[in-house]
Parts: sequence; C-alpha cells; structure tokens
Amino acid sequence: MTDQSSNQMWGGRFAAGPDAIMEAINASIGFDQRMAAQDIAGSRAHAAMLAATGVISDSDAQAIREGLLTVLSEIQSGSFQFSTALEDIHMNVEARLKAVIGEPAGRLHTGRSRNDQVATDFKLWVRDQFDAAETGLLALIRALLTQAEAGADWVMPGFTHLQTAQPVTWGHHMMAYVEMFGRDLSRVRDARARMNESPLGAAALAGTSFPIDRDMTAQALGFDRPAANSLDAVSDRDFALEFLSTASICAVHLSRFAEELVIWSSAQFRFVTLSDRFSTGSSIMPQKKNPDAAELIRAKVGRIYGANTALMMVMKGLPLAYSKDMQEDKEQVFDAADNWMLALAAMEGMVKDMTANRDGLAAAAGSGFSTATDLADWLVRVLGLPFRDAHHVTGSLVAMAEAQGCDLPDLTLEDMQSVHADITDDVYSVLTVENSVNSRQSFGGTAPDQVRAQIKRWKALV
Ligand code: ARG
Repeated sequence: MTDQSSNQMWGGRFAAGPDAIMEAINASIGFDQRMAAQDIAGSRAHAAMLAATGVISDSDAQAIREGLLTVLSEIQSGSFQFSTALEDIHMNVEARLKAVIGEPAGRLHTGRSRNDQVATDFKLWVRDQFDAAETGLLALIRALLTQAEAGADWVMPGFTHLQTAQPVTWGHHMMAYVEMFGRDLSRVRDARARMNESPLGAAALAGTSFPIDRDMTAQALGFDRPAANSLDAVSDRDFALEFLSTASICAVHLSRFAEELVIWSSAQFRFVTLSDRFSTGSSIMPQKKNPDAAELIRAKVGRIYGANTALMMVMKGLPLAYSKDMQEDKEQVFDAADNWMLALAAMEGMVKDMTANRDGLAAAAGSGFSTATDLADWLVRVLGLPFRDAHHVTGSLVAMAEAQGCDLPDLTLEDMQSVHADITDDVYSVLTVENSVNSRQSFGGTAPDQVRAQIKRWKALV
C-alpha cells in the first residue's frame, strides 16, 4: 500500500512522501504558476485531439475542456489554492480538474508527459514575450523617428572617444538608434519564427504508441508545425536562450542610449531636457532633477545578461533528453522578460517626452574645432594637397586657434596664409557647421537630405 502522504500524481511506487527540503527544492509552483493560461490552453488542445483521434471519448474530452476553463477562471480570480506538494502548475491544474470533474480528468495525461507539456507551456509563454518585445521595439522606433524628423537638420557635435569629432545632425544621431533597435526587432522576429514548432506529443522523450495527431495540436496552439524529433523537442531550450540573448543585445543598446541621456541631461551638457514624468528629485538637494529612469535602464542589462549567462550554464553539458535542471529556466526568463519590457516602455516614454535643446546643441557643435576635417578636405579638394599634408597644415591652424583662444572660423585669412600661402577666402565656406553637415552627402552620411531619406525608408517599414 502507498503511504497516504506520497504524491497523488506519481506516488504509486513510493512508500513515503518527500522530505520537506526535497519538496522545497523540487517545487516550481511558486513561479511556474505564471504559465497557468498556457498550461490550460495546451491541455485543452490535447484533450480535443485525443477525442478526435478516438483515444478518449467525446464526452470525456468535453468534460475536461470545460473543467479546465473553470480551473482557469479560479486561477484568474485568485481563488485557486496552489499546493507545493503538487510541485508545479501542471499537477496543480490536473489535481484541481479531478476535484472539479472527477474521473475523466485522469484521462487527460494520456499520450503526453510533463516533459512535452512544460516545453509547450514555456514556448507559448516565451512566444508571447517575443510579441510583446516586438510591440515595445516598434513603439520605441516610432518615438525615435518623431525626434529624428523634428530635428533632421539640427546640428550637434558628433563624438569619438567622447571628444568632439565632427558636426552631425540630431536626426542622424536618433536614426543611429533606430538602426540598432531595428536590428533587435529583426532578431526578435527571426527567433520567434524559428521557435514556433510544437513539442506537444513528444511525450516523455520517445513519442507515444497512441495514435495522436501532432499537427492538430500544433495548429490549435498557433505553432507552424510539430517539432520533428521527440528527444530534441523535450530537451530544447534554444528558444529561451535566443530570447535571452536577443534581450541582452537589446539591453546593451538601451544602456548605451540611456548613458547618453544621462550625460546629455547634465548641467554641463544641457543637450536635452527630460520630462518631469521621467525624472525624480533629491530628498536633500532641492535643485536636483535626476535621470533615474535612464540610469535604471542603463543598469537593466546586468540582470538580463545575467539571466542569459545563468541559463547557458544550466543547459551546458546536459545529456538528452529532459533533466530537472531545466526547471531552472523559468525564473531567469520571467525576470529578464519583465525587465526588458519595462526598460523598452520607459525608454519609449523618455524619448517621446524629451526636448532637445536646439540652440545648446548648435553652440556645442561649433566648438572643439569640429570643422577641422572640413578644412583639411578643402585643402585636398581645392589646393590639391595630399591628404596627409592637408592634415598637417590643419593641425598647425588648430594649434594657432587654440593659442589665440578662438575657433577655426575666427582666424584671419592672413593667419591662415602664414601656414599655407595658397589658402583663399573660399575656405571660410566650409568652416561653418551647417556647411559641414550639408556636405556629408555620402550614403548614410549626416547631411539632412540623407537623414530624411532614412527616416522615410523606416517610416514605410514600421
Ligand atoms: N516542473 C517541471 C519543469 O519545470 C515540469 C517537468 C517535470 N518533468 C519531470 N519529468 N519531472 O521542468
């Protein structure tokens, strides 16, 4: 006889129930209850298929499918009593189904296992999150396009090494992030398409002797097709790894942009003003307006990439097929998904609300000898100097301006000719910031025309 306290789902061969510590390490119900809706959708599809293939009766399938809806509404209303002794969401739902509909509940688990069940539930959950990420990325890209369009020809300093390099346009800078988040979007879509194969019906690992119809359940659950190898189907967590690595790369992009917003909103830069809605105050310094949302977005990459590393390490070296190690997949993905969606939404909100300081950007654009390259290019184009010589002449002029405490356009023609006698008045035309950006007409360059062409292309895509 089986001990009363052994597990009602698998306790047949056990004489005693688990130690409390065993129960604590084994249970996943504390977190996998987040997959309740997916678990019930999978079970309802499975029950319908079992009836369609004649494995169970129509009336049993009917009772199971209706009973599962009752269980779902109990979970959604918060009245459901989750039990740690029942380990996970799968057995919690099934046990409750038995209490609600009685004997037919015991037929639901025919031709499947918790191994294909959990893979199915988790895939459905992750698939929803890919869709949420797509929505969040599209919204962020649209917000960036609005900023880019408003300031397609606003000049600002472009940096390398965070030193003033050459003038660029605000629109161009915004569009750089559109390209980055656009690649994230394509990774999301790519991974979502690849993952969309149904594990259901792979059963424990080898498939089943029941005449199941895996195409039917795949279709009912919105999968493109059933996964073609049952061993792989139950042991594959690539979809979760791709989700986390895609999230990680996107979080890197978010953190880079967040860092720029932190710098740009400082009193020293004043390139942008973040809205009150996305800033906080200091409890001691009344003048402070802190870019906390940007800082937190900058930080999120830590936990998201941490989740990626954690799951990579969980999966490393696991033999086929299912191992309980894989239960460690969910908390990482749940946490990363929550924080990724939050970071995307916060960034979208900040970008929508922020105001670029057009005058401040323009003033900064002209400082730091930002048109020195234009001067060197003029020496090449008009005087026919080799670029290396032009570079040298320009360097001398920069040193001269620095010594005089002025910018390049402030040097007199005499000053210029003292360094190279052939320089003419015409040189001043390339020293303005506006002419500098307007001249950068190469494909993908910072000229407003080029930026507007890219905005147009993206607007047609998103
Ligand atoms: N809670 C388990 C998980 O998340 C479900 C699968 C359990 N399978 C098993 N053979 N014990 O992975």
